Amino acid sequence: MKSKILVTGGAGYIGSHTVVELVNAGYTPIIVDSLQNSNSLIIQQVEKITGVKIEFHQIDLCESEEIERLITNNPDIQDVIHFAAFKAVNESVSFPLKYYRNNLYSLINVLEAFKGRHVNLVFSSSCTVYGQPDQLPVSESATIKKAESPYGNTKQIAEEILEDLASVDKNFNITSLRYFNPVGAHPSAMIGELPNGTPQNLFPYITQSATGRRGLKELTVYGDDYNTPDGSCIRDFIHVVDLAKAHVVALEFMKNNHQTNYNVFNIGTGRGYSVLEVIKEFEELTGVKLNYKIGQRRSGDIEKIFSDVKKSSKVLKWKAENGLKEMIQSAWAWENI
Ligand code: NAD
Ligand code: WQD
Repeated sequence: MKSKILVTGGAGYIGSHTVVELVNAGYTPIIVDSLQNSNSLIIQQVEKITGVKIEFHQIDLCESEEIERLITNNPDIQDVIHFAAFKAVNESVSFPLKYYRNNLYSLINVLEAFKGRHVNLVFSSSCTVYGQPDQLPVSESATIKKAESPYGNTKQIAEEILEDLASVDKNFNITSLRYFNPVGAHPSAMIGELPNGTPQNLFPYITQSATGRRGLKELTVYGDDYNTPDGSCIRDFIHVVDLAKAHVVALEFMKNNHQTNYNVFNIGTGRGYSVLEVIKEFEELTGVKLNYKIGQRRSGDIEKIFSDVKKSSKVLKWKAENGLKEMIQSAWAWENI
Protein backbone atom coordinates (compact mmCIF):
# COMPACT_ATOMS: atom_id res chain seq x y z
CA MET A 1 0.00 0.00 0.00
CA LYS A 2 1.56 3.29 -1.07
CA SER A 3 1.22 6.58 0.72
CA LYS A 4 -1.42 9.25 0.91
CA ILE A 5 -0.74 12.13 -1.44
CA LEU A 6 -2.18 15.63 -1.38
CA VAL A 7 -3.31 16.79 -4.81
CA THR A 8 -4.15 20.49 -4.87
CA GLY A 9 -6.25 21.47 -7.87
CA GLY A 10 -7.03 17.77 -8.27
CA ALA A 11 -10.53 18.45 -9.66
CA GLY A 12 -9.05 20.39 -12.58
CA TYR A 13 -8.04 19.24 -16.04
CA ILE A 14 -4.51 17.95 -15.43
CA GLY A 15 -5.13 17.20 -11.75
CA SER A 16 -8.05 14.84 -12.41
CA HIS A 17 -6.08 12.83 -14.98
CA THR A 18 -3.17 12.65 -12.55
CA VAL A 19 -5.39 11.42 -9.72
CA VAL A 20 -6.40 8.50 -11.97
CA GLU A 21 -2.73 7.64 -12.62
CA LEU A 22 -1.89 7.98 -8.92
CA VAL A 23 -4.61 5.48 -8.03
CA ASN A 24 -3.35 3.19 -10.81
CA ALA A 25 0.11 3.40 -9.23
CA GLY A 26 -1.27 2.48 -5.79
CA TYR A 27 -1.34 5.92 -4.14
CA THR A 28 -4.22 7.24 -2.03
CA PRO A 29 -4.85 10.75 -3.39
CA ILE A 30 -6.54 13.41 -1.26
CA ILE A 31 -7.89 16.21 -3.42
CA VAL A 32 -8.00 19.81 -2.24
CA ASP A 33 -9.72 22.16 -4.65
CA SER A 34 -11.72 25.37 -4.32
CA LEU A 35 -13.73 24.37 -7.43
CA GLN A 36 -13.22 27.90 -8.74
CA ASN A 37 -12.37 26.47 -12.16
CA SER A 38 -13.72 22.95 -11.91
CA ASN A 39 -16.69 20.85 -10.93
CA SER A 40 -17.07 18.18 -8.26
CA LEU A 41 -18.75 15.99 -10.92
CA ILE A 42 -15.26 15.40 -12.30
CA ILE A 43 -14.26 13.79 -9.00
CA GLN A 44 -17.24 11.44 -9.32
CA GLN A 45 -16.06 10.56 -12.82
CA VAL A 46 -12.58 9.84 -11.47
CA GLU A 47 -14.17 7.54 -8.90
CA LYS A 48 -16.03 5.72 -11.69
CA ILE A 49 -12.84 5.28 -13.73
CA THR A 50 -10.77 4.05 -10.79
CA GLY A 51 -13.45 2.29 -8.75
CA VAL A 52 -12.02 4.07 -5.69
CA LYS A 53 -13.68 6.64 -3.40
CA ILE A 54 -11.55 9.79 -3.42
CA GLU A 55 -11.24 11.98 -0.33
CA PHE A 56 -12.06 15.56 -1.31
CA HIS A 57 -11.85 18.84 0.61
CA GLN A 58 -13.26 22.02 -0.88
CA ILE A 59 -10.70 24.51 0.34
CA ASP A 60 -9.42 27.78 -1.05
CA LEU A 61 -5.68 27.51 -0.53
CA CYS A 62 -5.43 31.26 -0.12
CA GLU A 63 -7.01 30.68 3.30
CA SER A 64 -4.04 29.37 5.25
CA GLU A 65 -5.89 28.02 8.32
CA GLU A 66 -7.89 25.37 6.45
CA ILE A 67 -4.95 23.82 4.64
CA GLU A 68 -2.85 23.96 7.80
CA ARG A 69 -5.55 22.10 9.71
CA LEU A 70 -5.82 19.43 7.03
CA ILE A 71 -2.05 18.85 6.95
CA THR A 72 -1.79 18.81 10.75
CA ASN A 73 -4.61 16.26 10.92
CA ASN A 74 -2.82 14.04 8.37
CA PRO A 75 0.72 13.64 9.71
CA ASP A 76 1.31 10.74 7.30
CA ILE A 77 1.07 12.89 4.12
CA GLN A 78 4.59 13.22 2.73
CA ASP A 79 3.84 13.70 -0.96
CA VAL A 80 2.17 16.65 -2.67
CA ILE A 81 1.36 17.66 -6.21
CA HIS A 82 0.52 21.33 -6.39
CA PHE A 83 -1.64 22.00 -9.45
CA ALA A 84 -3.92 24.67 -7.96
CA ALA A 85 -3.58 27.95 -9.81
CA PHE A 86 -5.44 30.24 -12.18
CA LYS A 87 -4.18 29.74 -15.74
CA ALA A 88 -5.94 32.12 -18.17
CA VAL A 89 -3.18 34.19 -19.75
CA ASN A 90 -5.47 36.99 -21.06
CA GLU A 91 -7.33 37.30 -17.79
CA SER A 92 -4.03 37.62 -15.95
CA VAL A 93 -3.15 40.64 -18.11
CA SER A 94 -6.44 42.34 -17.15
CA PHE A 95 -6.37 41.29 -13.48
CA PRO A 96 -2.74 40.82 -12.48
CA LEU A 97 -3.34 40.98 -8.72
CA LYS A 98 -5.94 38.22 -8.93
CA TYR A 99 -3.23 36.00 -10.42
CA TYR A 100 -0.35 37.03 -8.19
CA ARG A 101 -2.56 36.63 -5.13
CA ASN A 102 -4.06 33.27 -6.02
CA ASN A 103 -1.06 31.55 -7.57
CA LEU A 104 1.52 32.75 -5.05
CA TYR A 105 -0.47 32.82 -1.79
CA SER A 106 -1.77 29.32 -2.43
CA LEU A 107 1.75 28.01 -3.06
CA ILE A 108 3.20 29.71 0.02
CA ASN A 109 0.35 28.46 2.21
CA VAL A 110 0.89 24.88 1.05
CA LEU A 111 4.63 25.15 1.70
CA GLU A 112 4.10 26.66 5.15
CA ALA A 113 1.57 23.97 6.07
CA PHE A 114 4.30 21.35 5.56
CA LYS A 115 7.04 23.21 7.48
CA GLY A 116 9.08 20.85 9.62
CA ARG A 117 7.95 17.72 7.76
CA HIS A 118 9.84 15.84 5.07
CA VAL A 119 7.86 16.29 1.87
CA ASN A 120 8.20 15.45 -1.83
CA LEU A 121 6.48 18.15 -3.87
CA VAL A 122 5.78 18.29 -7.57
CA PHE A 123 4.99 21.77 -8.89
CA SER A 124 3.07 22.56 -12.09
CA SER A 125 5.29 24.89 -14.02
CA SER A 126 5.03 25.78 -17.67
CA CYS A 127 7.03 26.24 -20.85
CA THR A 128 5.77 29.81 -20.64
CA VAL A 129 8.85 30.51 -18.48
CA TYR A 130 11.02 30.28 -21.62
CA GLY A 131 9.21 32.95 -23.66
CA GLN A 132 10.53 32.69 -27.25
CA PRO A 133 13.64 30.57 -26.76
CA ASP A 134 16.84 31.48 -28.61
CA GLN A 135 17.49 27.81 -29.37
CA LEU A 136 15.17 24.95 -30.23
CA PRO A 137 14.46 22.42 -28.91
CA VAL A 138 14.50 24.33 -25.63
CA SER A 139 16.29 22.68 -22.72
CA GLU A 140 15.90 23.24 -19.00
CA SER A 141 19.11 25.24 -18.90
CA ALA A 142 17.82 27.87 -21.37
CA THR A 143 17.65 31.46 -20.21
CA ILE A 144 14.42 32.40 -18.51
CA LYS A 145 13.10 35.43 -20.41
CA LYS A 146 10.93 38.21 -19.03
CA ALA A 147 7.45 36.76 -18.67
CA GLU A 148 4.90 37.60 -21.38
CA SER A 149 2.06 37.85 -18.85
CA PRO A 150 1.38 38.09 -15.11
CA TYR A 151 0.32 34.41 -15.30
CA GLY A 152 3.71 33.47 -16.75
CA ASN A 153 5.41 35.60 -14.13
CA THR A 154 3.63 33.69 -11.34
CA LYS A 155 5.28 30.51 -12.67
CA GLN A 156 8.71 32.15 -12.80
CA ILE A 157 8.34 33.58 -9.28
CA ALA A 158 6.98 30.28 -7.98
CA GLU A 159 10.01 28.41 -9.34
CA GLU A 160 12.29 30.95 -7.63
CA ILE A 161 10.41 30.58 -4.33
CA LEU A 162 10.75 26.79 -4.56
CA GLU A 163 14.44 26.86 -5.42
CA ASP A 164 15.20 29.33 -2.61
CA LEU A 165 13.28 27.24 -0.11
CA ALA A 166 14.87 23.95 -1.20
CA SER A 167 18.34 25.47 -0.86
CA VAL A 168 17.86 26.20 2.86
CA ASP A 169 15.37 23.54 3.95
CA LYS A 170 16.40 20.00 3.03
CA ASN A 171 13.04 18.70 4.27
CA PHE A 172 11.67 19.92 0.96
CA ASN A 173 12.39 17.71 -2.03
CA ILE A 174 10.92 19.60 -4.98
CA THR A 175 10.46 18.93 -8.68
CA SER A 176 9.12 21.58 -11.04
CA LEU A 177 7.65 20.11 -14.20
CA ARG A 178 7.53 22.55 -17.10
CA TYR A 179 4.55 21.38 -19.12
CA PHE A 180 4.41 22.21 -22.81
CA ASN A 181 0.87 22.27 -24.30
CA PRO A 182 -1.34 19.69 -22.54
CA VAL A 183 -4.23 18.48 -24.71
CA GLY A 184 -6.54 15.50 -25.13
CA ALA A 185 -8.54 13.53 -22.62
CA HIS A 186 -8.68 10.22 -20.79
CA PRO A 187 -9.33 7.28 -23.18
CA SER A 188 -12.58 6.54 -21.29
CA ALA A 189 -13.83 10.00 -22.38
CA MET A 190 -15.14 10.37 -18.83
CA ILE A 191 -12.82 13.26 -17.93
CA GLY A 192 -11.27 15.97 -20.07
CA GLU A 193 -10.77 19.69 -20.36
CA LEU A 194 -13.72 21.85 -19.28
CA PRO A 195 -12.94 25.44 -20.28
CA ASN A 196 -15.17 28.18 -18.90
CA GLY A 197 -16.82 30.27 -21.61
CA THR A 198 -15.16 30.67 -25.00
CA PRO A 199 -11.98 28.61 -25.06
CA GLN A 200 -8.71 30.49 -25.50
CA ASN A 201 -6.65 27.39 -26.32
CA LEU A 202 -6.41 25.75 -29.73
CA PHE A 203 -7.65 22.22 -29.00
CA PRO A 204 -10.90 23.04 -27.19
CA TYR A 205 -11.57 25.76 -29.76
CA ILE A 206 -11.15 23.26 -32.59
CA THR A 207 -13.38 20.60 -31.02
CA GLN A 208 -16.07 23.07 -29.97
CA SER A 209 -16.13 24.86 -33.30
CA ALA A 210 -16.31 21.49 -35.06
CA THR A 211 -19.57 20.61 -33.30
CA GLY A 212 -20.87 24.18 -33.31
CA ARG A 213 -22.86 23.13 -30.25
CA ARG A 214 -21.65 25.91 -28.00
CA GLY A 215 -22.17 28.67 -30.52
CA LEU A 216 -18.66 28.64 -31.97
CA LYS A 217 -19.00 28.63 -35.73
CA GLU A 218 -15.58 29.66 -36.94
CA LEU A 219 -11.99 29.07 -35.91
CA THR A 220 -9.43 31.80 -36.45
CA VAL A 221 -5.83 30.83 -37.06
CA TYR A 222 -3.85 33.58 -35.38
CA GLY A 223 -1.40 34.42 -38.13
CA ASP A 224 0.15 32.57 -41.08
CA ASP A 225 3.08 34.92 -41.58
CA TYR A 226 5.44 33.53 -38.94
CA ASN A 227 8.90 32.25 -39.79
CA THR A 228 7.76 28.60 -39.85
CA PRO A 229 7.31 26.19 -42.80
CA ASP A 230 3.57 26.93 -43.22
CA GLY A 231 3.59 30.34 -41.51
CA SER A 232 1.52 29.30 -38.48
CA CYS A 233 2.90 28.92 -34.94
CA ILE A 234 4.49 25.70 -33.75
CA ARG A 235 3.80 24.03 -30.38
CA ASP A 236 4.78 20.86 -28.54
CA PHE A 237 1.41 19.31 -27.71
CA ILE A 238 1.50 16.68 -24.99
CA HIS A 239 -1.25 14.16 -24.25
CA VAL A 240 -2.69 14.84 -20.80
CA VAL A 241 -2.42 11.15 -19.81
CA ASP A 242 1.30 11.15 -20.62
CA LEU A 243 1.64 14.33 -18.60
CA ALA A 244 -0.29 12.77 -15.71
CA LYS A 245 2.06 9.76 -15.73
CA ALA A 246 5.07 12.09 -15.60
CA HIS A 247 3.92 13.19 -12.13
CA VAL A 248 3.95 9.62 -10.83
CA VAL A 249 7.43 9.15 -12.28
CA ALA A 250 8.62 12.43 -10.73
CA LEU A 251 7.45 11.26 -7.30
CA GLU A 252 9.32 7.98 -7.64
CA PHE A 253 12.39 9.90 -8.80
CA MET A 254 12.33 12.13 -5.70
CA LYS A 255 12.05 9.13 -3.39
CA ASN A 256 15.12 7.52 -4.96
CA ASN A 257 17.28 10.55 -5.74
CA HIS A 258 19.15 12.07 -2.84
CA GLN A 259 21.65 14.16 -4.77
CA THR A 260 19.71 17.39 -5.16
CA ASN A 261 16.45 18.48 -3.59
CA TYR A 262 15.38 20.86 -6.36
CA ASN A 263 14.97 19.68 -9.94
CA VAL A 264 13.35 20.98 -13.10
CA PHE A 265 12.16 18.91 -16.07
CA ASN A 266 10.56 19.66 -19.42
CA ILE A 267 7.45 17.59 -20.02
CA GLY A 268 6.69 17.54 -23.72
CA THR A 269 7.05 15.21 -26.68
CA GLY A 270 10.06 16.97 -28.21
CA ARG A 271 8.12 17.31 -31.49
CA GLY A 272 6.51 20.51 -32.72
CA TYR A 273 3.32 20.72 -34.79
CA SER A 274 2.04 23.86 -36.45
CA VAL A 275 -1.49 25.13 -35.93
CA LEU A 276 -2.31 24.36 -39.57
CA GLU A 277 -0.89 20.84 -39.23
CA VAL A 278 -3.15 20.22 -36.23
CA ILE A 279 -6.17 21.47 -38.20
CA LYS A 280 -5.32 19.21 -41.16
CA GLU A 281 -4.77 16.18 -38.94
CA PHE A 282 -8.05 16.84 -37.11
CA GLU A 283 -9.95 16.99 -40.40
CA GLU A 284 -8.34 13.78 -41.66
CA LEU A 285 -8.90 11.81 -38.47
CA THR A 286 -12.46 12.91 -37.77
CA GLY A 287 -13.73 13.51 -41.30
CA VAL A 288 -15.10 16.84 -40.05
CA LYS A 289 -14.24 19.92 -42.09
CA LEU A 290 -13.27 22.87 -39.92
CA ASN A 291 -14.59 26.29 -40.79
CA TYR A 292 -11.46 28.35 -40.30
CA LYS A 293 -9.99 31.61 -41.50
CA ILE A 294 -6.56 33.14 -41.21
CA GLY A 295 -6.61 36.12 -38.87
CA GLN A 296 -4.19 38.56 -37.28
CA ARG A 297 -1.41 37.39 -35.01
CA ARG A 298 -2.48 37.08 -31.37
CA SER A 299 -0.53 39.47 -29.20
CA GLY A 300 2.05 37.79 -26.95
CA ASP A 301 2.15 34.55 -29.00
CA ILE A 302 5.44 32.72 -29.25
CA GLU A 303 6.39 31.84 -32.85
CA LYS A 304 7.66 28.33 -32.20
CA ILE A 305 8.56 26.24 -29.23
CA PHE A 306 9.17 22.58 -28.56
CA SER A 307 10.96 20.77 -25.80
CA ASP A 308 14.32 19.15 -25.43
CA VAL A 309 13.33 15.93 -23.68
CA LYS A 310 16.84 14.56 -23.11
CA LYS A 311 16.84 15.31 -19.38
CA SER A 312 13.37 13.90 -18.66
CA SER A 313 14.10 10.77 -20.66
CA LYS A 314 17.58 10.23 -19.16
CA VAL A 315 16.97 11.21 -15.54
CA LEU A 316 13.24 10.56 -15.04
CA LYS A 317 13.16 7.75 -17.58
CA TRP A 318 9.87 9.17 -18.77
CA LYS A 319 8.80 9.53 -22.38
CA ALA A 320 5.49 10.54 -23.99
CA GLU A 321 3.76 7.51 -25.50
CA ASN A 322 0.88 9.18 -27.34
CA GLY A 323 1.11 11.10 -30.58
CA LEU A 324 -1.00 13.81 -32.19
CA LYS A 325 -3.47 11.18 -33.39
CA GLU A 326 -4.31 10.03 -29.84
CA MET A 327 -4.46 13.65 -28.66
CA ILE A 328 -6.99 14.58 -31.32
CA GLN A 329 -9.06 11.40 -31.07
CA SER A 330 -9.37 11.58 -27.28
CA ALA A 331 -10.19 15.31 -27.31
CA TRP A 332 -12.85 14.64 -29.96
CA ALA A 333 -14.35 11.71 -28.05
CA TRP A 334 -14.56 13.88 -24.91
CA GLU A 335 -16.22 16.70 -26.87
CA ASN A 336 -18.82 14.30 -28.21
CA ILE A 337 -20.03 12.66 -25.00
P1 NAD B 1 -7.48 23.83 -14.14
O1 NAD B 1 -7.99 25.22 -13.99
O2 NAD B 1 -8.31 22.86 -14.87
O3 NAD B 1 -7.12 23.21 -12.71
C1 NAD B 1 -6.65 24.02 -11.66
C2 NAD B 1 -7.50 23.68 -10.44
O4 NAD B 1 -7.03 24.46 -9.34
C3 NAD B 1 -8.98 24.02 -10.63
O5 NAD B 1 -9.74 22.89 -10.30
C4 NAD B 1 -9.23 25.17 -9.67
O6 NAD B 1 -10.52 25.14 -9.13
C5 NAD B 1 -8.16 24.93 -8.63
N1 NAD B 1 -7.74 26.13 -7.90
C6 NAD B 1 -7.34 27.32 -8.41
N2 NAD B 1 -7.04 28.16 -7.42
C7 NAD B 1 -7.23 27.50 -6.25
C8 NAD B 1 -7.09 27.83 -4.89
N3 NAD B 1 -6.72 29.05 -4.50
N4 NAD B 1 -7.37 26.89 -3.95
C9 NAD B 1 -7.77 25.66 -4.32
N5 NAD B 1 -7.94 25.29 -5.59
C10 NAD B 1 -7.67 26.20 -6.55
O7 NAD B 1 -6.02 23.96 -14.79
P2 NAD B 1 -5.09 22.82 -15.38
O8 NAD B 1 -5.03 23.00 -16.85
O9 NAD B 1 -5.45 21.52 -14.82
O10 NAD B 1 -3.70 23.30 -14.80
C11 NAD B 1 -3.14 22.75 -13.64
C12 NAD B 1 -1.82 23.43 -13.36
O11 NAD B 1 -0.96 23.26 -14.48
C13 NAD B 1 -1.92 24.93 -13.14
O12 NAD B 1 -0.96 25.29 -12.15
C14 NAD B 1 -1.52 25.51 -14.48
O13 NAD B 1 -0.98 26.81 -14.34
C15 NAD B 1 -0.46 24.52 -14.91
N6 NAD B 1 -0.26 24.46 -16.36
C16 NAD B 1 -1.33 24.27 -17.19
C17 NAD B 1 -1.15 24.23 -18.56
C18 NAD B 1 -2.32 24.07 -19.48
O14 NAD B 1 -2.20 24.43 -20.64
N7 NAD B 1 -3.44 23.52 -19.05
C19 NAD B 1 0.14 24.36 -19.09
C20 NAD B 1 1.22 24.54 -18.21
C21 NAD B 1 1.01 24.60 -16.84
C1 WQD C 1 -1.56 27.40 -29.40
C2 WQD C 1 -1.42 27.97 -30.80
C3 WQD C 1 -2.25 30.22 -31.04
C4 WQD C 1 -6.48 29.38 -30.46
C5 WQD C 1 -0.98 28.59 -23.54
C6 WQD C 1 -0.37 29.45 -22.49
C7 WQD C 1 0.85 28.80 -21.92
C8 WQD C 1 0.55 27.37 -21.46
C9 WQD C 1 -0.10 26.58 -22.53
C10 WQD C 1 -0.06 27.37 -19.15
C11 WQD C 1 -0.97 29.44 -30.79
C12 WQD C 1 -3.04 29.24 -31.88
C13 WQD C 1 -5.11 29.24 -30.58
C14 WQD C 1 -7.24 29.75 -31.61
C15 WQD C 1 -5.21 29.77 -32.90
N1 WQD C 1 -0.37 27.37 -20.37
N2 WQD C 1 -4.50 29.43 -31.77
N3 WQD C 1 -6.56 29.91 -32.78
O1 WQD C 1 -0.64 30.04 -26.33
O2 WQD C 1 0.82 28.01 -26.80
O3 WQD C 1 -0.02 28.40 -24.56
O4 WQD C 1 -1.26 27.29 -23.00
O5 WQD C 1 0.98 27.47 -18.63
O6 WQD C 1 1.28 29.59 -20.86
O7 WQD C 1 -0.04 30.71 -23.06
O8 WQD C 1 -1.60 27.68 -26.31
O9 WQD C 1 -3.60 26.61 -27.21
O10 WQD C 1 -3.68 29.09 -26.69
O11 WQD C 1 -2.33 28.30 -28.62
O12 WQD C 1 -4.66 29.95 -33.97
O13 WQD C 1 -8.45 29.93 -31.54
O14 WQD C 1 -2.71 27.97 -31.41
O15 WQD C 1 -2.06 31.43 -31.71
O16 WQD C 1 -0.12 29.64 -31.87
P1 WQD C 1 -0.32 28.63 -26.09
P2 WQD C 1 -2.91 27.90 -27.16
